[in-house]
Amino acid sequence: MLWEVGLILLVVISALSVVWTTVRSGMSPMPSSRAARAAMLEALQDTDGAIADVGSGWGHLALAAARRYPDRQVVGYELSWLPWLVSVLSARLLRLHNVRLLRTDGFRALAESGPWPVGTVICYLHGQGMRRLRSVLDSAPEAPRWIISNNFALPDAVPEHQWRLRDFHQSPVYRYRWPDSAQ
Ligand SMILES: C[S@@+](CC[C@H](N)C(=O)[O-])C[C@H]1O[C@@H](n2cnc3c(N)ncnc32)[C@H](O)[C@@H]1O
Repeated sequence: MLWEVGLILLVVISALSVVWTTVRSGMSPMPSSRAARAAMLEALQDTDGAIADVGSGWGHLALAAARRYPDRQVVGYELSWLPWLVSVLSARLLRLHNVRLLRTDGFRALAESGPWPVGTVICYLHGQGMRRLRSVLDSAPEAPRWIISNNFALPDAVPEHQWRLRDFHQSPVYRYRWPDSAQ
């Protein structure tokens, strides 16, 4: 009986923590769709350097990138502790050694270019997140050279390439080359 109450409490607290971070950051940990992930993995082909998933959620995109590109370092930044924990456990289960998943503010980490200088950012962030990303790109001493974004455009920038998913909305995936794409 006691352990059942404990389990229910744990589930409720975990769910509330996800809701709390969603409200705070304005973004739920909803993963990129399978089609979007496939397009983003393809878009990564012509890019270089370490890959950073800013807002890595449950790890779907960061882990897929680490599997597809075993010679590149991948870092995922996530604020919400439950999705982050699941992503860490998944990386262990999959024995991925080229991925690090950090529970920290991705924009701040990117601005400080840690743990490595990032060559390519991948993300699925909403409008406000893309505006924050843009201000990091404008001010970071070692800004990433590539940005691949699922669905949300980078403000005041022209994509170097664009994919359209074959879903209902024909959702876009954008690839920017930095700083050439900046307007
Ligand atoms: C829509 S999910 C994308 C998950 C994953 N990148 C994917 O494409 O499957 C966005 C995630 O960004 C996280 N997030 C929002 N702001 C963040 C920040 N400043 N630093 C790190 N993560 C953040 C949210 O908690 C959420 O889990």
